[in-house]
Amino acid sequence: MTGVDAVRAGEWAAPGRVNLIGEHTDYNDGFVLPFALPQQVTVAAARRDDGLLRLCFPAAAGGGEGAVELRVDALEPGRGPRGWAGYAAGVVWALRDAGHPVGGAEVTFASTVPPGAGLSSSAALEVACALALNDLYGLGLTGGALAVLCRRAENAYVGAPTGIMDQAASACCTPGHALFLDTRDLTRRHVPFDPAAHGLALLVVDTRVQHAHADGEYGRRRAGCEAAARTLGVRALRDVPHGELAAALRRLPDAAARGLVRHVVTENARVLHAVDLLMAGDLPALGPVLTAGHASLRDDFRVSCPEVDLAVATALAAGALGARMTGGGFGGSVLALVARGAEEQVGEAVAAAFAAASYAPPRWFRAAASPGARRLS
Ligand code: GLA
Repeated sequence: MTGVDAVRAGEWAAPGRVNLIGEHTDYNDGFVLPFALPQQVTVAAARRDDGLLRLCFPAAAGGGEGAVELRVDALEPGRGPRGWAGYAAGVVWALRDAGHPVGGAEVTFASTVPPGAGLSSSAALEVACALALNDLYGLGLTGGALAVLCRRAENAYVGAPTGIMDQAASACCTPGHALFLDTRDLTRRHVPFDPAAHGLALLVVDTRVQHAHADGEYGRRRAGCEAAARTLGVRALRDVPHGELAAALRRLPDAAARGLVRHVVTENARVLHAVDLLMAGDLPALGPVLTAGHASLRDDFRVSCPEVDLAVATALAAGALGARMTGGGFGGSVLALVARGAEEQVGEAVAAAFAAASYAPPRWFRAAASPGARRLS
């Protein structure tokens, strides 16, 4: 094909993620504890010497369809394609805007990450694309640096005001570990996380619901957190110590602001507690921490929805040790910690509850902490 450099070509992969605990903490400079899923986005990519970015997403790949051709030197925030192609174009824009010498490329995507399920299919796409360009153009950037650039693509190019958790998880996770990330200084620790070794399993239930107002609500929660931090005179809500929570709440003007702050402060404490439990090998004790996290997201941060609450309540009633929503909320997926062998029973119980409530059938699968982004060939 004209312009394509067959010598500098290859295949790369980047996974979706589940967040074990630490939700809506990343844009508050707090802590998160995600792990990588086995489901991933793969890209086959080659350099092009004609300054064209050609993006293909075959219909079978599940995240859109078609081919898009763009000039790399004409990429500009707000003027790019929407959907999956926008994430990839945003990555090229972010790399070039940061001064990295990235030219044209031919990129074909395939994905096994369910789109719209709150499992970071878009972050996986961004990171897979960034890693491919990093290698094709010899940029020498680390996974952490690529995550920062992918987040910039998402915030500044696509226009979604997310934190860095999803991109960092996709870029930096390692198999058999959860990624303990301090989103303020981006220091990270790989914490051993192997439920199977403790007779446990993780079930992910995709509720297959994505409420239309989710984006606006996410931005409103974020703005609410920033306003509360200003009222409290701190740089970010991460700076409110758990021991000073009651005093901080008394200084806030209304119940909504108090709920946001209470969630973020207690959620950061839950992440630290979860890391201690993983380090001590006490995985069953993680269950109640997950469930408490869900109650906080539902009642204080108010980002759950009836389908997600039903999935959590049903999983717990069917014997899960703990369960909670994972990701941004308003739909998406639920994570349940269950005894090994009980996955089917819990998954089927949720499916039956959904049928009884006349909700669309959920999908469920077992998850294990899988590799982060890497070159395949
Ligand atoms: C989405 C965002 C993340 C994070 C989560 C909530 O997944 O992309 O940055 O804020 O929601 O924890």
